[in-house]
Amino acid sequence: MQLSSLLPLFLLTPSISAIRPSPNPINCPLVLDGRIRNASLSTFDTPSSPFDSKYVKGLNLTWSQILLLPPIKPSRFSSLSHGPIEVTIDNHSLFLSGGKNLQHGFRRAELILGNGSDASNSGIKTFHWSVKLDAQRALNLSHEYMLVWHESGDYSHNQWSLNLGVMLSQDRPLDTNISTVDLDKKLWKVLDGRNNVIWTHEPSSRGWMNFAVVMDGVNNTLQIFYSSGDDELVAVTEPMKNDNSGMGQFHIGVLKKPTETESVVWDGYQEPLEDRGEGLVYSGVFVEDSEDGCVSR
Ligand SMILES: *[C@@H]1O[C@H](CO)[C@@H](O)[C@H](O)[C@H]1NC(C)=O
Ligand SMILES: *[C@@H]1O[C@H](CO)[C@@H](O)[C@H](O)[C@H]1NC(C)=O
Ligand SMILES: *[C@@H]1O[C@H](CO)[C@@H](O)[C@H](O)[C@H]1NC(C)=O
Ligand SMILES: *[C@@H]1O[C@H](CO)[C@@H](O)[C@H](O)[C@H]1NC(C)=O
Ligand SMILES: *[C@@H]1O[C@H](CO)[C@@H](O)[C@H](O)[C@H]1NC(C)=O
Ligand SMILES: *[C@@H]1O[C@H](CO)[C@@H](O)[C@H](O)[C@H]1NC(C)=O
Ligand SMILES: *[C@@H]1O[C@H](CO)[C@@H](O)[C@H](O)[C@H]1NC(C)=O
Repeated sequence: MQLSSLLPLFLLTPSISAIRPSPNPINCPLVLDGRIRNASLSTFDTPSSPFDSKYVKGLNLTWSQILLLPPIKPSRFSSLSHGPIEVTIDNHSLFLSGGKNLQHGFRRAELILGNGSDASNSGIKTFHWSVKLDAQRALNLSHEYMLVWHESGDYSHNQWSLNLGVMLSQDRPLDTNISTVDLDKKLWKVLDGRNNVIWTHEPSSRGWMNFAVVMDGVNNTLQIFYSSGDDELVAVTEPMKNDNSGMGQFHIGVLKKPTETESVVWDGYQEPLEDRGEGLVYSGVFVEDSEDGCVSR
């Protein structure tokens, strides 16, 4: 149904032979690995996927209809055989919540790493990922997007998230009620569990953006690391207080919020999209153990 939409991407990307694998090693104990080896799209529809094969996606779609495997240079901590994955959204990206209520406000598709009761759910863990924009499937920054986040084990809230676009007034910081609507829509924003915007960044190029979040479930802190391209990660914040209780699940994908909305989830405006019309490319997704202060750079 959507094969024709693959063509522009493949025509515009460099040939495979021009691609060098990234050499950077992971130095800390690996807890969960989303860097699927030599994946085909159909792998993501099966239990062999490192991600949940059923959630979170449009009710009528399979992962092989949602994902793309763009043949581009892998990010840091990744390699050709653990290649990049693009997550797309379109008109059909409506999630049926609780098996009965369609979330009309959202267009969403997220790969989920971890099941809420695995080894990433205690102690001190570092969540790694890289992202890259796709000019062929541009995001519309008049909307608020969540692009990576960690949802608490009881599904009550997100302990942190990476957001882009215009923030909705509903998502103002809980402790101050000062709106973040006026923040530049082009800023990538990291939010803590109280919706405080704890770090922002506007990249100067369209290359890989590499993130790591150290989530300390014992002392209840977050610390952000970042680099661009092939550069080594550096700490861009100190460890900051955050309620990480219950830990939970790592979401990697696109959740586009509506405009002109009251409830955010159930109502509001979403523009029509071509099939796989918007997308974001992900790579180097893994969780490591940072109990002894180890963070792969
Ligand atoms: C995986 O992909 C790499 C890079 O294309 C290739 O060298 C390797 O032979 C593949 N491995 C398998 C098991 O297919
Ligand atoms: C899902 O498929 C059903 C049955 O074909 C259709 O009625 C419904 O509109 C579809 N929903 C979406 C969101 O694509
Ligand atoms: C979650 O994953 C862990 C590790 O793979 C496994 O031991 C556990 O049984 C899983 N729990 C559920 C509820 O599926
Ligand atoms: C971006 O989204 C806004 C709000 O939904 C819409 O009015 C506008 O047409 C969209 N722009 C593009 C370029 O798609
Ligand atoms: C923020 O607004 C909400 C809803 O209006 C209110 O319940 C809450 O007490 C306010 N918080 C602060 C810190 O003002
Ligand atoms: C956690 O807090 C304790 C007590 O304040 C401190 O001794 C310890 O160094 C902290 N651990 C980390 C990893 O920051
Ligand atoms: C997307 O939905 C709009 C109506 O909401 C429709 O006009 C458009 O044809 C749809 N596009 C595709 C590719 O299905």
